[in-house]
Amino acid sequence: MKILICGKGGSGKSSITALLATELDRRGYRVIVVDNDESNFGLHIQLGMELPKDFAMHFGGKRMIFEKLAELKREREGKASVFGERIRTEEIPGDYLSKKGRISLLAIGKIRDFGEGCACPFNALSADFLRMLQPARDEFALVDTDAGIEHFGRGVELGCDLILMVIDPSQESIRLADKVNKITDKVGKPLYYILNRTDEETEGFILDSIARDKVVAAIPADERIARNGLLGKPLDFELEGINKLAEFLTKMKEQRMG
Ligand SMILES: Nc1ncnc2c1ncn2[C@@H]1O[C@H](COP(=O)(O)OP(=O)(O)OP(=O)(O)O)[C@@H](O)[C@H]1O
Ligand SMILES: [Mg+2]
Repeated sequence: MKILICGKGGSGKSSITALLATELDRRGYRVIVVDNDESNFGLHIQLGMELPKDFAMHFGGKRMIFEKLAELKREREGKASVFGERIRTEEIPGDYLSKKGRISLLAIGKIRDFGEGCACPFNALSADFLRMLQPARDEFALVDTDAGIEHFGRGVELGCDLILMVIDPSQESIRLADKVNKITDKVGKPLYYILNRTDEETEGFILDSIARDKVVAAIPADERIARNGLLGKPLDFELEGINKLAEFLTKMKEQRMG
C-alpha cells in the first residue's frame, strides 16, 4: 500500500510521517519512507536516521532524468519507466537507502544550491518511481511531500493508493482540504484527513467546515513532538492518534489484499 501525505506548509506532514513509520515498524510492518520534499531537511532527523544520497544521482542528476524519461516515452508510447516493469525496495541500490529496524528511507532529491533550478525533474522521477514501486505484502510506502499541492500536477499521486491530508487549525488548511478533495476525486484516489494540533474547540470548528466523514484521526498539540522537533531528536514515542491511524491503515491493507 502506497500512501501520500500532503498538507499546507508546517501543518505536521513530516512529523506525522515519522511517527506513523515508527508505529508501523513497531507493529511488525516494513516501511519505505519516500522523502519527496526537495526543500526541507527535517524528515530523516524526525526518523532518527541518516539522510541517504539523492536517488536522483543514480540517474545522473536532475538534468539527465528529464532526458532519460523523455527518451523512454518516445520509444515506448509513454508508458515506459526507468525502472522497467516494476521496482521493489530490496532492488534499490543500498547507497540510496538509509535503514533503521524495518524502516528504509529514500530521498528523491534535494535542492542544495542557489539558482539550481526547479524541482520538476525530482517530481518526474518520483512519479515514475511510485508508479512502479511494488511494496511487499507486509510493507507500507509512506511519501512525505513538499507543502501545498504542486506535486499533484506532476503525477506524484498517481502511483499512490491513498492520500492522507494533514489539517492544522488554520483557514488555509480548511480551504486546501476542499481543493485536495476535488483533485483526488478527479484522479480517483481515496482521501482521508488527519487533524493535527487541534483541541475540542478547534476540532469542532474544522469538522463543521470540511468533509467530516474523511477524518480518520486527530492529534492534539503534543509537547514531545514540539520538544524533540526543536532538539533534533527522533519522534519515536507512541501517540493515541497515530495508533488510531495505524489501525485504520492496516485494516485497509488487509481488506485490499482480501
Ligand atoms: N501535534 C503537534 N504538537 C506539537 N508540535 C507539532 C505537532 N505537529 C507538528 N509540530 C511541530 O510543528 C513544526 C512543523 O512540523 P512538520 O515539520 O512536521 O511540518 P511539515 O508539514 O512537514 O512542514 P513543511 O511544510 O515545512 O514540510 C515542527 O516544529 C513540529 O515539531
Ligand atoms: Mg515536512
